[in-house]
Amino acid sequence: MANSEDIFKKIISHAKEYGFVFPSSEIYDGLSAVYDYGQNGVELKNNIKNYWWASMVRMNENIVGLDAAILMHPKTWKASGHVDAFSDPLIDNKDSKKRYRADNLIEEYMGKISAKINKEVVKAARRFGDAFNEETYRTTNERVMGYQSKIDAINTNMVKAIAESDMDGLRQIIIDAEIACPISGSKNWTEVRQFNLMFSTEMGSVSSDSSTIYLRPETAQGIFVNFLNVQKTSRLKVPFGIAQIGKAFRNEIVARQFIFRLKEFEQMEMQYFVKPGEQMKWFEEWKEKRLAWYIGLGLPKEKLRFHAHENLAHYADAAEDIEFDFPMGFREIEGIHSRTDFDLGAHESVSGKKLQYFDSEANENYTPYVVETSMGLDRMVLAVLSHSYTEETLEDGSSRVVMKIPPQLAPIKAAFFPLVKKDGLPEIAREIIDNLKLDFNCLYEEKDTIGKRYRRQDAVGTPFCVTIDHDTLNDQQVTIRERDSMEQKRVPIKELGAIIGKAVDIKSLFV
Ligand code: GAP
Repeated sequence: MANSEDIFKKIISHAKEYGFVFPSSEIYDGLSAVYDYGQNGVELKNNIKNYWWASMVRMNENIVGLDAAILMHPKTWKASGHVDAFSDPLIDNKDSKKRYRADNLIEEYMGKISAKINKEVVKAARRFGDAFNEETYRTTNERVMGYQSKIDAINTNMVKAIAESDMDGLRQIIIDAEIACPISGSKNWTEVRQFNLMFSTEMGSVSSDSSTIYLRPETAQGIFVNFLNVQKTSRLKVPFGIAQIGKAFRNEIVARQFIFRLKEFEQMEMQYFVKPGEQMKWFEEWKEKRLAWYIGLGLPKEKLRFHAHENLAHYADAAEDIEFDFPMGFREIEGIHSRTDFDLGAHESVSGKKLQYFDSEANENYTPYVVETSMGLDRMVLAVLSHSYTEETLEDGSSRVVMKIPPQLAPIKAAFFPLVKKDGLPEIAREIIDNLKLDFNCLYEEKDTIGKRYRRQDAVGTPFCVTIDHDTLNDQQVTIRERDSMEQKRVPIKELGAIIGKAVDIKSLFV
């Protein structure tokens, strides 16, 4: 069986070959950690957005939408803490000129020691057979204990250095552990510097500090600064939410893993404004609701889990991630954060404008607390692609790659094939498409054998293929084939809309 790295490579090349995801500006050899969505990728993305928007905005009468600009007043990012604290500790190797995240270099080093422990454990298990007790071995074997205490000491020092922004301390760990550059093999390191992840640019034609603006690193701040505009014009009462889908930008240095970690990506965020003191109740409620959103789509429960943050950001009083089992293992797909009144309070003090809510029932003003749900759309696309990618051997010994994308998210809902390119069959196929194309994304295809046409649609994840043959001319019926079961049925043309609609309508996800 192929290992998960091979499967990941296959998914990446499949995504390119079938028009889901292309490297950005590929003819110029691409741009690191930036990708474009092709004809099928954009449809998949739009369907995910629609499902999210429906479940957040349409289904909740106290949640409304917003589309704030990417560019914001630079003071926004001072108030939010991003100018001072949204950074990674970076170090350069003077010989290879390669730049690394200092904490990643240390983590990889600890990973290597951990691998040595695992090797010892495997060897011992073989040696002792059934009598082997792993826990006893790990806590009594001197060599293993030595490795473990080395890991623990390095980890304690690293966590402390990061918490205290002690860049010299971080560098010293690398020097003391004699960590070498994976490319040059040398230990010739620069100082560790904090590198801000925000992209900056100049507003206007004259460059000065005051004209520096940033591409937003999260969509949330557009919601915070508009909080009162929306509340006053919608007359919503706490608790209420504001939802937004939009681009965000981060100058990520460690940017491998395809569309998992990007420099330009899309977030789907919702800020829920609640009465102070009630935040934990809403935090728990949104955690459960958000998990149910993924399961409702058919993503299996065992591929999803919560992961509580060990170190809370200074503004949070609770934070958990929803993690998905990607080909490279469990990783964050969404964060649920209880952000207290930090953001509204900070904007109030930096802008000098009151950002308080008047609670008419309690007859008091207060700064609401915020529980946010923040997911990465690109990570969701990767989750759907990797969960859907299936290689199958069929009964006749042939094989197929089928993308078992939930029909509600599939880029193309139905493909229509005239059996031959003549005898009036193409005209009937086009007439059917004309009647359905405003309801579903349809595709017309007349090239190659029907078998080859099926394979191409399987690879894209099209739930239905419909063949128009000579009998159609007499009986007004067509053959509809379902993607996963490959079952074929003869049905009247006039029933096609209802059959396809029932399977692909996002309404079916809400019942
Ligand atoms: N407003 C809160 C916030 O931005 P975050 O945990 O930094 O929180 C939220 O980001 C989500 O955005 C993550 O769970 C992830 O899905 C997505 N995300 C963050 N950085 C990303 C990147 N560089 N590339 C792709 N998605 C990213």
